[in-house]
Amino acid sequence: MIKLAPSILSADFARLLEDVKKVEEAGCEYLHIDVMDGHFVPNITLGPSLVKSLRKDVNMVFDAHLMIENPDQYIKDFVDAGCDLIVVHQEACIHLHRTIQNIKSHGIKAGVALNPATPIETIKHVLSDVDMVLIMTVNPGFGGQSFIEGMIPKIKELKGIIDDQNLNVDIQVDGGIKPENVNKVVEAGANVIVAGSAIFNSNNISETVQLFRKNANI
Ligand code: DX5
Ligand code: ZN
Repeated sequence: MIKLAPSILSADFARLLEDVKKVEEAGCEYLHIDVMDGHFVPNITLGPSLVKSLRKDVNMVFDAHLMIENPDQYIKDFVDAGCDLIVVHQEACIHLHRTIQNIKSHGIKAGVALNPATPIETIKHVLSDVDMVLIMTVNPGFGGQSFIEGMIPKIKELKGIIDDQNLNVDIQVDGGIKPENVNKVVEAGANVIVAGSAIFNSNNISETVQLFRKNANI
């Protein structure tokens, strides 16, 4: 089952709810919430209070992508704000297994993200503990960057390990995904597709979402 996860990073923050309602009405399953702290990545975005405000009016799965140092310090705040899934970066966690257990102890789903330069090998021993792995297909920090082609074999490698071990782990891809290349990542094994600029910068959000689904054979 393939799911679309529009990233609010490219939405109009002054009209955020209006923009989010458009992707919800277009049938997108996840809302991808990019949290950046200006330390782990060179950009600053939003915190739990904004998530809490959106939660009142939106029924999508709230998928928080934490691009922050010391994520443990903020996990409870994002859970209380209404997140259904929290993804932390392997590179930001000294005790990754502990952080994953921390997320799951709140009764929500946990995921781990890998920067383009970080090998699958680094999460091999926590694969059976997570609900989702996020393969970054750009270097995190900004929307609108170009898809890194070299991530296709990485997605395939992860898909192979998940299938070999018969695990129930989603593969999310994030960065530079457009209707023109979505089929490539889906064929490689991804099943949760993040798209920011391609959706929110388009003239007709609902048509773009339909094009994503058509091209991905969803
Ligand atoms: C990048 C973020 C992405 C970003 C994707 O650091 O994690 O979620 O919003 O934007 P596009 O789809 O424009 O590459
Ligand atoms: Zn993201």
